Amino acid sequence: MSAIVLRGVHAFDPSSGVDEIIDVVVEQGKITRAGRDAGRELAATPSEKVRIILGLSEQGNQRWLFPGFVDLHAHLREPGNEAKEDIKSGLAAAAAGGYVDVCVMPNTRPVNDSTIITEWMVHKGKAANSARLHPICAITTGQNGEALTEMALLKEAGAIAASDDGKCVTRSDVMRRALEYGKTFDLPIIQHAEDHALTQGAEMHEGAISARLGLRGWPRIAEDIIVARDVLLAEYTDSRYHVAHLSTLGAARIVREAKSRGIKVTCEVTPHHLTMTHELLIGYDTACKVNPPLREAEDLEALLLALADGTIDAIATDHAPHTASDKEGPIADAAMGMIGLELCLPMLLGLVSSGKLPLARVITALSSAPAKIVGLAAPRIREGAAADLTLVDRAEEWIVTPSQLRSKSHNTPLLNQTVRGRVKATLRDGIFIHDELEGRRP
Ligand code: DOR
Ligand code: ZN
Repeated sequence: MSAIVLRGVHAFDPSSGVDEIIDVVVEQGKITRAGRDAGRELAATPSEKVRIILGLSEQGNQRWLFPGFVDLHAHLREPGNEAKEDIKSGLAAAAAGGYVDVCVMPNTRPVNDSTIITEWMVHKGKAANSARLHPICAITTGQNGEALTEMALLKEAGAIAASDDGKCVTRSDVMRRALEYGKTFDLPIIQHAEDHALTQGAEMHEGAISARLGLRGWPRIAEDIIVARDVLLAEYTDSRYHVAHLSTLGAARIVREAKSRGIKVTCEVTPHHLTMTHELLIGYDTACKVNPPLREAEDLEALLLALADGTIDAIATDHAPHTASDKEGPIADAAMGMIGLELCLPMLLGLVSSGKLPLARVITALSSAPAKIVGLAAPRIREGAAADLTLVDRAEEWIVTPSQLRSKSHNTPLLNQTVRGRVKATLRDGIFIHDELEGRRP
């Protein structure tokens, strides 16, 4: 195919100031034309080499075109836990969720703390010919919180950031050295903020509901203490610091204050912390067990406000696939995490339609903001840009069933529920990495 013509789509790209119904023409991996009727001539000369995609669905829904999404935080489980997910299935799930770039956490088996694993992941990612995979290397060897990894070499091998996600870098001296070391070659340090001494055996958020259910609590303060300490370290070392899956009102307040004082801190929030609370645990549903845990309504409100005012920069999925057997049994024994790559956009569009978040903030937080944090080129809808694009039917409803999901795992509280908003196609460098237009089977 030599050209793709998206005809009469509602293009929406806050960083390019685009919010209108236009044609977008893609040739040789790039957006060559964008504007009103810019694709009319090409569309009028039928040719096998031109694929025309209409701005209206068969149901008459207006299709929206967004810059491709960038996920800062996904667990693809390969190497070592391919029953949960592998790089190929994980990237397919990402493409189906509208993502063109996926940053992949290092808590694999073995841990990604070596150039061999980083290079191997890059290779596997390329071979999948789907969304681009960017490894995040560990901060400490084996994620054991003690000796720093060879981050400079890992960056050369393809690592885009460093994190011990799943575990906190608890020791202040280690965190200080990580920030100082990462700063010398501009590698972002991403913290999983959890004072483990305060969360031993935790099953859910500590509050009235954990007390009522008799489940062990994960107090907010365990997150807040680490974020506060790290912000001080980032200030002291004049370095860049990023908080993964920020979940408490207190941590949002600390980041807001730190930003106002010019400290180089950024953070992300997950779609589940923006839409779900600890009340979901009342049914002891292990699908709702996640780390950090689902919090209270006041946290959720504070996170929405923080995202709206720019305190929170990015939305990241923390896609954490687990098999059905990992999630069986009592809450205490269940693995932590939920899948997110294919559900993030519908979850967020729900917040947009209920007026809780402006669409522009959502798209910025899914695309240009995360790209900037890890130094990737931000996908843009404008002439000359790489064709990294996500086509969405915002009105289409679908039921979250295993057969609809590309991920190998189905651990989500949304299983069997109806959601609204569907990614119809994803283009990476002008190539369809997801395509369910024209009756193509998802
Ligand atoms: O819920 C979670 N699951 N949180 C984490 O930090 C790690 C993740 C996983 O790897 O399953
Ligand atoms: Zn994670």
